Amino acid sequence: MFRFTRKAALGALAAAALLPIPALAQTAPAKAVVTAASPDGTLVLTVTTDGSDRPVYSLSRKGKLLIGASKLGFTLTDGLNLVRGFRITGSETASADSTWEQPWGERRFVRDHHNEVLVHFEQNADYAGRKMNVRFRLFDNGFGLRYELPEQPGIKTLKIGDEWTEFDVAQPGTAFWVAGLEWNREEQIYQRTPIDAVATAQTPITMRLEDGTHLAFHEAALVDYSAMYFKRAERQLFRTTLAPSSRGSAVIRDLPFNTPWRTIRIADSAAGLVENDLELNLNEPNKIGDVSWFKPMKYIGIWWGMIRGDWTWAEGPRHGATTERAKQYIDFAAKNGFGGLLVEGWDKGWNGDWFGHGQDFSFTEAVPDFDLKAVAAYAAKNKIQLIGHNETGGNIANYEAQLEPAMKLYQSLGMHSVKTGYVADAGGIIAPGDAPGEVRMEWHEGQRNVQHHMKVVETAAKYQVAIDAHEPVKDTGLRRTYPNWIDREGARGMEYNAWGQFANGPDHEPTLVYTRMLSGPMDFTPGMLSLEGANHVPLASTLAKQLGLYLAIYSPIQMASDFIESLAAHPKELEFIRQVPADWSESHLIAGEVGDYAIFARKDRNSEDWYVGGVNGHAARDVSLAMDFLDAGKTYTATVWKDGEGATYETDARHKIAYATLKVKKGDKLPLWLAPGGGAAIRLHPGK
Ligand code: NOJ
Ligand code: CA
Repeated sequence: MFRFTRKAALGALAAAALLPIPALAQTAPAKAVVTAASPDGTLVLTVTTDGSDRPVYSLSRKGKLLIGASKLGFTLTDGLNLVRGFRITGSETASADSTWEQPWGERRFVRDHHNEVLVHFEQNADYAGRKMNVRFRLFDNGFGLRYELPEQPGIKTLKIGDEWTEFDVAQPGTAFWVAGLEWNREEQIYQRTPIDAVATAQTPITMRLEDGTHLAFHEAALVDYSAMYFKRAERQLFRTTLAPSSRGSAVIRDLPFNTPWRTIRIADSAAGLVENDLELNLNEPNKIGDVSWFKPMKYIGIWWGMIRGDWTWAEGPRHGATTERAKQYIDFAAKNGFGGLLVEGWDKGWNGDWFGHGQDFSFTEAVPDFDLKAVAAYAAKNKIQLIGHNETGGNIANYEAQLEPAMKLYQSLGMHSVKTGYVADAGGIIAPGDAPGEVRMEWHEGQRNVQHHMKVVETAAKYQVAIDAHEPVKDTGLRRTYPNWIDREGARGMEYNAWGQFANGPDHEPTLVYTRMLSGPMDFTPGMLSLEGANHVPLASTLAKQLGLYLAIYSPIQMASDFIESLAAHPKELEFIRQVPADWSESHLIAGEVGDYAIFARKDRNSEDWYVGGVNGHAARDVSLAMDFLDAGKTYTATVWKDGEGATYETDARHKIAYATLKVKKGDKLPLWLAPGGGAAIRLHPGK
C-alpha cells in the first residue's frame, strides 16, 4: 500500500517545479518519494520535495490527476520560513477501520476507514535543520493533511505569519462559494463561478469538475489556531491564508502542536459530498462524556418580532421579552409539541448601542419586566426547556468575565441550551488584553476567538449546557469531541428574509446544503409560514419549501420561527412541524444537484418512520424519487405536503400547497413536481 523510495522526482511533481523536467532530471539530486493509497486504491497520494527543496504533494483519483503538485509550509514572523531547504527523512504508515456512534446527528453510526502516512521533513543546515512532519489521511471519499510540529532544539514557540498549503485543482469546473475575510463574515449570498474566477473564499468551498467529480475543501478540528481561507493564487491554484490577529502573527503556538486538518471531500455526485463524514472522522472522540441531558428538539422563540422590528430587544413599550408573552409562548409550545422556547432581549444591556460593543450586557440579570425565575418555573411545569440567549456584541472580554456565573445560573434554572451571538463587523471582536482594562481587537475566526469559543463550550459542558453559536467560528466537526456544541449559524439564515424582498434568493438553501451544511448543523430557523418579512416583503419560498427545510438543513434543535399566530393559522403545516424529528438514525440525499435542489430521505432515530423532502431553487422541476431506502416487505402510508398547482415563489401563488395520502413500498418511484423556489415534505409511516 505504501512505498518509500529514493528516485528523481518526475512526472506531475517535477513538471510543477521551478526547473523544466530535463534540467531537473540532469541536476536534481535523488529525491525521496512517499506514496500512499486509500483503502480501495481509488485515491493515490505522492509526497516529495521539488527542485527548490520545497515539500510538495499531489493526488490522483482513479488514475487521473486531481490535485497537481502543491506546496506545503509556513511563513514565520520571527525566523526564516518553513518553506525551502527540506528533505524527507522518513515516513510511518497506519490504517484503521472502525465505527463509532453519535449521541445525536444525521446518522447514528459513522464508519472511519482510512490509511495514513506521516512524512518527516527536515530543513538543511542553512535553515537550522528544523523539523516539520505532515500527516496525510486517505479515505475512499476524502483526504486530509495536517502539520505536526514536533518538539525540537532551538524553537520553543512558532509564530506563524501565514500557512502556505496549496491545492492545485487539476481540472476546470464550477465553484460554489462565499468570500472569506469579508466585513459581514459568512453571512453572504453564494456565488457560482468558474473555478478560476474564485477570489478568497470561506470554506467549505464546493467544486464540480468537468468530468463530474465533486470536491469540497474545508478544515477539521480547528482548535487553538486561526481559521483558514481558500485564496486563489493563479489559474486553479489555491493557497490557505489564515485569519489575522492583533498580535501580528496569525497563530502563536508552543511546540509540539498539530494544526487543524486541511480536508477535501471527493465524490462522483452531489450525494457523495453530502453523505460523507470526513471532518467528523478527523476530530477526536467525545471528551465531555454523557450528554443525554441534551435532547434534540423543536423550539419557538420570542425572536421574529425583534428581527422584523415590531418588538424591541431593549426595554420600553415594544419590549419583546415580557413575562406575560413568555408564558403565552410556553402555553403555545406545550400545546403544539415543541420542546423549547428561546427568549431574546431578556437581559440587561440592550438599551445602548450594543452592535459591536456589548460591554453593557449582563448574562445573569434580567430586565424588570421579565421575571426569569418565574418564567423558568412556568416552563418547567409545562415541560418546556427555556433556551437562553447570550448576545455579546462581539465583546468576549465582557462575556468571559461572566461565563461561570451565567452557566451556573442557567443550570440552576433547568436550562440546557444557550444561543450565543457575536454581532460585530469582521475584526470587531473585543478581547481582553494583557494588562487590566486593556482590550485587543480580533477577528471572529482568529486564534483568540477560536480559544474563546472553546472556553464557552467547555464551561457550558461543566454545567450541562449546550451551545448554539451565531456569528460563530465556522464548524469544523468539533461536535464529535464536544457534543454540547450542537449547532451554529455561520451563513445567511432566515433573518435576512425580514429585511428585503426575496432577500436570500430561491437558490440559497439548495446551495447551503452542499456548502455550509457540509461543515455541520445550522440554526437556520425555518418555519416562516407567513412567507413574509417586515413591511410584508415576500420570501423567495413557497409554503411547502418552509417544511422541506426541516429535512434539507439539519440541526438537532429546529426552530419554527414565525409568530405563534402565523403558526396557528396553518394547522396542517404545524402538524408536520410537530411530527418531524430533529434526530436521525440515517440520512441520504436521494435527489439533488449543487445549487439547484436537494431532496433527503431521513429515518427517525426513535421510530420506524422515514421522512422525505427538501428544497428547490429558482427553476421548476419534476423529480422521480426512488423509494429504495425503505424496509422490504413493509407498506408505508405516505402523508405528503407539496407545492400546489401553479405555485411559484415569484407571486402570491407561493402560498399554494397541496396534500395527499398514498401507499408506498420499497422500489416504488414517487413522482413530484417542485415549484420555482418550492419544496416538499413527506412522512412515511409503516402500516396505516
Ligand atoms: C443575530 C442573530 O443571527 C439573530 O438570530 C439574533 O436575534 C440577533 N443577532 C440578536 O442577538
Ligand atoms: Ca446572524
